[in-house]
Amino acid sequence: MSAPADSRGTFGRLGFVVAATGSAVGLGNLWKFPYMTYANEGGSFVLVYLVAVALIGAPLMAAEILVGRHTRQSPVGAFAQLAGEASRSRGWVLVGWLGIAAGAVILSYYSVVAGWTVYYFIRCIRWSLGGFTPDDAASLGAVFGDFVGNGALQVGFHALFIVLTVGVVIGGVQAGIERATKILMPTLGLLLLALVINSFFQPGFDEAMRHLFHFGPISGTGVLEAVGQSFFSLSLGMGAMITYGSYVSRENSVPRSAALVVAFDTLVGLMACFVMFTIIFSISAAERETLGAGAGILFTTLPRMFYEMPGGLILAPLFFFLVAAAALSSTISLLEVIVAYFIDNRGWGRTRATIAVGAVIFAVGVLCALSLGANPTLTELTLVGETQGIFNILDYAAANWLLPLGGLFTCLFVGWVLSDALTRGELEAGHGVFRFHGPWKWALRVICPLAVSAILIAVMTGYSFN
Ligand code: TRP
Repeated sequence: MSAPADSRGTFGRLGFVVAATGSAVGLGNLWKFPYMTYANEGGSFVLVYLVAVALIGAPLMAAEILVGRHTRQSPVGAFAQLAGEASRSRGWVLVGWLGIAAGAVILSYYSVVAGWTVYYFIRCIRWSLGGFTPDDAASLGAVFGDFVGNGALQVGFHALFIVLTVGVVIGGVQAGIERATKILMPTLGLLLLALVINSFFQPGFDEAMRHLFHFGPISGTGVLEAVGQSFFSLSLGMGAMITYGSYVSRENSVPRSAALVVAFDTLVGLMACFVMFTIIFSISAAERETLGAGAGILFTTLPRMFYEMPGGLILAPLFFFLVAAAALSSTISLLEVIVAYFIDNRGWGRTRATIAVGAVIFAVGVLCALSLGANPTLTELTLVGETQGIFNILDYAAANWLLPLGGLFTCLFVGWVLSDALTRGELEAGHGVFRFHGPWKWALRVICPLAVSAILIAVMTGYSFN
């Protein structure tokens, strides 16, 4: 049923942290987090997010890696094996399936947004070469709106990104991912740091900070979105970290790796907010209106900033190139979970599995690509609540329901089904004595399940946290 351990790849010494950070850091941090924080009016949303990262995200990150490394299998096989060993019901395998479904849903629309980053990379090269005029600055909002409403461009760049992802995943995880990510992610980190420092000197910095740290009331859905975003940003709740964990050697420390990935990911999200909010609050209210601070915030604010600062002609295309690379290291992990299932559990070859899955996801993604204005039916569709358009519906469903549910069951599984001997053994292999095993286990057993289910129930019953 499963491939023998030594036919699987194994990450090098730093390989796991690099690859997992590559998975975690992506459009969730750079595109989604800033615009959701802005839409939810800052402070309280960020606070709930940070609490969720500390109390749920970090313990769950260690739990997923542990499950993967112990079983050396992707989610479906991993749950089957461990539930079998503990002689519990095979129902846990459904959690693995839920993860595969969530991965497919996320990848289909994520790849559309990833396509935007490639488009803006090209667009910035043209601006850098041809000159960026005040007119260009004024029309950034309109450029973005026209672009997402253009069906041919949306489908084209989405297709391009699926092809890129498929290409890397066919090459195999460690060979493909480790080398590229090792260079690109630190570069992105440094560039972001430079932009944060540059923000300190902008007129809007103080107001941006006030916005980011102003703790106003937050709605029930705001809380759910903050928690959902913590899962999404950390790549948790669908077995991505189980899959990457299955390539980790026993010489690596699970707690240390988990802590590093969580820290890097959180830092990048906050830096992105610093930078974009500073731009938003450095321009006039009227200009802010035309720029638009919605889902396009990454693509409208950054070009404006680059072309006003020294070196921007070079930094603008470089930045979008690095964002595209960050998106690619995330789409790779999404695709890898689904592909690993077909390889591990169905005996498919890697090439065949990758191409077949890529084709299906491309098809679903086309519907998302056309639901941003190009096709009125897809754009105006509402299924439940106010969320409109296939793209938004899939995003809402995956981030706020599928991932938290998958995470909830993973916590329960590792907390209650796996023995202390097993979990302690895994956390201490390659680490030494782990003093927080007890608190960690109780976080998984009680804190995470209670918090996640309380929020889901509260939102279902329409409760408001105001
Ligand atoms: N975490 C990535 C981001 O923030 C997206 C992502 C990659 C993801 N793999 C995942 C989200 C697995 C959930 C599950 O952009």
